[in-house]
Amino acid sequence: MSDYKRMLVTSALPYANGPIHLGHLAGAYLPADIFVRYQKLKKQDVVFVCGSDEHGVPITLLAEKRGVTPQDIVDEFHERNKQSFFDFGIRFDNYSRTSQPEHKKLSQEFFLKLKENDYLTPKTSQQFFSPKGQRFLPDRYVEGTCPFCGADGARGDQCDSCGKWIDQTKLINPISKIDGDTPELRDTTHWYLKLGDFQEKIIEWLDTKDNWKSNVLNFCKGWFAEGLRDRSVTRDLSWGIPVPVEGYEDKVLYVWFDAPIGYISATKEWAEQVGAPDKWKEYWQNKDTRLIHFIGKDNIVFHAIVWPAILMGYEGDWVLPAEIPANEFLNLEGEKLSTSKNYAVWLEDYLKSFQPDPLRYSLAANAPESKDADFSWKEFQARNNSELADVLGNFINRSLTFMFKNYDKQVPEQGELDDLDRDMLKKITETRDEVGACLEKFEVRKGVATYINLARAANKYFNDKEPWKVFKEDKAACGTTMNICVQVCRALSVLGAPFLPFMAKKLWKMMKLDGNIHAQSWDEVGLVEVPAGHKIGKIKILFPKIEDEQIQPEVDRLQTIASGANPDIPADLKPMISYDDFDKIDLRVATVLDVEPIPKTKKLMKLQLDLGFEKRTIVAGLAEKFTPEDLKGRQIIIVANLEPAKLRGVESNGMLLAAEDHEGNMQTLSVYEPVGDGAKIR
Ligand code: 2FM
Ligand code: ZN
Repeated sequence: MSDYKRMLVTSALPYANGPIHLGHLAGAYLPADIFVRYQKLKKQDVVFVCGSDEHGVPITLLAEKRGVTPQDIVDEFHERNKQSFFDFGIRFDNYSRTSQPEHKKLSQEFFLKLKENDYLTPKTSQQFFSPKGQRFLPDRYVEGTCPFCGADGARGDQCDSCGKWIDQTKLINPISKIDGDTPELRDTTHWYLKLGDFQEKIIEWLDTKDNWKSNVLNFCKGWFAEGLRDRSVTRDLSWGIPVPVEGYEDKVLYVWFDAPIGYISATKEWAEQVGAPDKWKEYWQNKDTRLIHFIGKDNIVFHAIVWPAILMGYEGDWVLPAEIPANEFLNLEGEKLSTSKNYAVWLEDYLKSFQPDPLRYSLAANAPESKDADFSWKEFQARNNSELADVLGNFINRSLTFMFKNYDKQVPEQGELDDLDRDMLKKITETRDEVGACLEKFEVRKGVATYINLARAANKYFNDKEPWKVFKEDKAACGTTMNICVQVCRALSVLGAPFLPFMAKKLWKMMKLDGNIHAQSWDEVGLVEVPAGHKIGKIKILFPKIEDEQIQPEVDRLQTIASGANPDIPADLKPMISYDDFDKIDLRVATVLDVEPIPKTKKLMKLQLDLGFEKRTIVAGLAEKFTPEDLKGRQIIIVANLEPAKLRGVESNGMLLAAEDHEGNMQTLSVYEPVGDGAKIR
């Protein structure tokens, strides 16, 4: 590792088709941010890039569902996600997007290079086509039953249940996501990456990666055992990067072909931003660079096999991934996260009610490193209250407050040390080295546990030293204790900065220490001291407790969704009535004979009705939702014994029943099949 001169760290580019949730964070973003923050404190040359993945079917599907353009979708989520990451303290050096022109140019260049080097070949095969929509239905446009595990709702590129990559045409009972139509098979020609040509080279390359996590290596072994097959890298879509070959103008590059190239274009964009346009080359074309891709486990095959094949196939000087820390999944309150069911905790929502650090801490302490992990609000609360507040916050608060009050805010002299003092100081440097060793190996869980143990040890030291007693007998001895406590506080700030960047900054400021906390030196922790006589500032609480009332709505919301209901729909139930109350209402079927809008009103319409036994007029507020033609001839339901009321001068003799949902969609109530007018509703 020490042979490397610089690092390029990436986090998987999230699709810009939805907001960021906890599962995303725990897998690819928080571990990367912690790692990068640590490396920057270690004064390493490191650049951290990410960006929005703005192509592919997830985007176009949502655009069609909402009736807007794909560009509208990506513009919205690019900004929202960039903001969420920022608010959560994820500090990319550049958060780019794959719709930027430089990315298009570079992706097409890669495509043409691979074609020139004979790693791409055109092939005609059958793909799903929608007869209704007169278009091909690539990837997720089709859903069906998984041919491997039998799960319903498997998407036309991957099954969420078993994680297998699916040949879309093998789906059982395929259904078009656009119109529910059964698609048919039609011939289409696409470019295929000859992945098999790279098998030997990739095996050889991966053989040198014995320090990699077993989840990544085992996953790849499974692929090699089956033999790497040609993979199509173009699609019949209009949204994406055009295939730069004559005769293929109506096709685009497959999103997984261009997305990883986004890591390079994001670095290029960064180089422009820092005013050194060629600097990106150092990170991508110099073998001294340690390239690290943080991803979730569903992205392993693309990063460990397809992407290296693309880089090798270019036959340039591209750096290959040095490490691919792939994390497992995060479940939520014991259930699988589901974005489509809204069974997720969205970062934007979280940040409305809570601070970022407690979540960063909780996700780091329970990171899905070697197996799936579970996030629960109770555990989150407990970690905040009993670890951050009672251990870390408490130590800082009690020591700084003691000094503030008894030593006039000033750090006392460090006198003669005893064994307890020496042990405490030793613990600082030990923690520094142990946490560092963990983070070098991407072991965030162990790293954060080791960190918090320093605060635990510090509380014990404080208790054992009993400064509140010693102060009265020997102010100098007590001063030594307090001096050491201050050194621990400084260390807790710097060593905590990767995990708890907001706390670290607040503490640094509170102690009135010079410079920016995030520009400090990791290696100097334990060596550089806060000098005696230094004055600290006003003390603030770093971690307020999180109360039951704060988390209960979150727990309830998830439980409601897990039970199949939608918590976003307000119940708004009226008070209970008796059967006799209900029985007083006379509901009847009536046919709408004629409708006229009532002049000078927005909503009101006059309806002539046939009740069989009589004809009558009612007034209803339907004009914003229906035209007279929509209503004429319909059988509707009315309250027939409601006392007459005058509305805008028109007498209404009854009330029409309509259903209106929480989004304002409205339908008049009717009967399934025609029935005689005047029929009673019971
Ligand atoms: O799975 C995903 O969310 C993809 N958008 C990840 C892309 S990673 C990279 F290759 F860009
Ligand atoms: Zn499956």
